[in-house]
Amino acid sequence: MTRLLIDCDPGHDDAVALLFAARHLDLVGITTVHGNSSLENTTRNALALAELAGLDVPIARGCVGPLVGNATYAPQIHGKSGLDGATLPVPRRQTVEQHAVDFIISQAERHRGELVVAVIGPQTNLALALRREPRLAGWLREITVMGGSTTTGNVTPAAEFNIYCDPEAAAAVFTSGVPIRMVGLNVTRRTGFSSADVQRLRASGRRVATVLADLLDFYLARQRDAFGLDLAPMHDVCAVIPYAFPELIRYGETAVQIEVSGALTRGMTVCDLRALRPDTRLPARLAGAPNARVALEVDSRPLIDRVIETILTYP
Ligand code: BDR
Ligand code: CA
Repeated sequence: MTRLLIDCDPGHDDAVALLFAARHLDLVGITTVHGNSSLENTTRNALALAELAGLDVPIARGCVGPLVGNATYAPQIHGKSGLDGATLPVPRRQTVEQHAVDFIISQAERHRGELVVAVIGPQTNLALALRREPRLAGWLREITVMGGSTTTGNVTPAAEFNIYCDPEAAAAVFTSGVPIRMVGLNVTRRTGFSSADVQRLRASGRRVATVLADLLDFYLARQRDAFGLDLAPMHDVCAVIPYAFPELIRYGETAVQIEVSGALTRGMTVCDLRALRPDTRLPARLAGAPNARVALEVDSRPLIDRVIETILTYP
């Protein structure tokens, strides 16, 4: 079973990723970061979700803002609290004393060569951990990222939210030398819950599934308003799925660079798809060295079914 640490900013789709990972993988910890809402909110949401689902996993608070500039939040998608739409239990659990940056380092040292870090929010915590402990890159098995896109963004035409929120951090992660698996909007925006899927959760009558249904009704309505989507995209769980159901997402290996300075393209993941297309394939000497496996194809329906079945295993 893969040992996984999730770095997140819950967040509706983060919530689903956490519940999925706790059931299928050896989840050694959760770290929180600014992103969909303030650090205070994302941390409270992580604790409340752990309370709801009875997850006995250490949770560490991380960074309040990006390496450069101010934090950007997404209340138009996730509400003011970062997780609007349901009443979550008041957490009795508390965060561990260690800061998320130190927690990531200590877990990686403890599980050398085994730990996968799933980064499903802005990448500030991991970037700082890599800077603080130069041996960290050699200790990690892999970094799996929900972020970026091989096509268009969601915050700007070029940039996806998680990368846009801290491009300098993403640049540090993508140049760290750790094997990277990236799933971006090109795959995740069409992999989501329909209202019938949400109804399936509600009809179960189970507590966790019912709370999730309330949350996802809210999130689905916001997706309709913001993007005209009739689907609640499960961006974040797509970063975790490969460790439980590897056949559901297919990747191509290529060079990915993070744009940090473009006036129109800051936060873009520049994926060298020329290396993957027969009509544009470059001579090896001209192509950049591959640093990531990038998600290109997904079996969305079976993926969402596996996620629903997993949520229905909670009481
Ligand atoms: C990403 O941004 C956040 O709003 C979601 O939780 C996901 O991680 C999608 O762009
Ligand atoms: Ca997220």
